[in-house]
Amino acid sequence: MKVVVTGAAGQLGAATVLEWKAAGHAVTGLTRADLDITVPADVRRVMARVAPDVILNCVGDNRVDAAQAAPLPALAVNAFAVRTLARVAAEYGATLVHYGTDFVFDGDTDQPYTEDDAPNPRSVYGMTKLLGEQLATDAPRHYVLRVESLFGGNMAGSSIDRLWAQMASGGPAVAFSDRVVSPSFVEDVVAATRAVIERQAPAGLYHCVNTGHATWFDVADHLRRLGGFPETCLQAGRAAEMKWLAPRPLFAALSNTKLQRAGVTMPTWQDAVERFVRQRSRQ
Ligand SMILES: NC(=O)c1ccc[n+]([C@@H]2O[C@H](COP(=O)([O-])OP(=O)(O)OC[C@H]3O[C@@H](n4cnc5c(N)ncnc54)[C@H](OP(=O)(O)O)[C@@H]3O)[C@@H](O)[C@H]2O)c1
Repeated sequence: MKVVVTGAAGQLGAATVLEWKAAGHAVTGLTRADLDITVPADVRRVMARVAPDVILNCVGDNRVDAAQAAPLPALAVNAFAVRTLARVAAEYGATLVHYGTDFVFDGDTDQPYTEDDAPNPRSVYGMTKLLGEQLATDAPRHYVLRVESLFGGNMAGSSIDRLWAQMASGGPAVAFSDRVVSPSFVEDVVAATRAVIERQAPAGLYHCVNTGHATWFDVADHLRRLGGFPETCLQAGRAAEMKWLAPRPLFAALSNTKLQRAGVTMPTWQDAVERFVRQRSRQ
């Protein structure tokens, strides 16, 4: 298949390019320098060269607090550019994959969110991402995969990388004991993305997170034990006390049961963290 990957230099995009190339597909990886997806004429020109079968949109403006202060850049990247990609995908009969976020929910629950739960974003960033999800449906064959707290791949910018680095240098790392997440290991998201396309799963919205959920403190403690770091390396903190510009959902666990019903089983977050540690220990 002819596969275009936008955001090819990002955490998810770089891993996506590697995976699809290794699987033998004709991959065009586009960094921001190659294509600014907020310029519709450029998107059309570049896509016309490739006539893609699959567009994997790994672009995101994830600067959550910056969006709260100045919404337009995030709106352009996370929402309106997705509409352009969806319309181009429709023209070429291509499958569009777009990635969403747990930040579309308000976090006022104690049960993992399903795809049927009504979004209620509390931040501008969450609103732009929700709009992007909706605009992606302009592509008849679309997958919107919500991911959360991405970690892994070849880049070291994630929260889990930060916790790992802080504990490895003696700490203390501070992890929230009041924020519940279902982290997403990049390698598992990339594999699941290929699987939904190859299995021709029904188009639509899926939660693409590792199975299970935990507080950030519990995730960090699992990491600490795997690294053999002493307990003094890790301290509990409270997200509710943070003075962020943009509010974050406190309970942000996502259920991936729908993905599983489509035949794609995500490993547990503990298993993913173990593979992350093996990966980072080799680097
Ligand atoms: N990271 C997370 O924890 C997380 C959580 C939930 C959802 N997501 C979603 O998952 C997807 C992938 O995220 P990620 O963590 O891989 O993001 P990332 O590492 O920040 O990569 C995003 C890439 O998009 C590029 N980009 C930004 N604006 C662009 C534009 N106008 N045109 C072309 N490229 C542009 C960035 O380039 P520059 O580096 O030059 O800006 C960067 O290479 C996004 O949809 C994101 O919203 C991520």
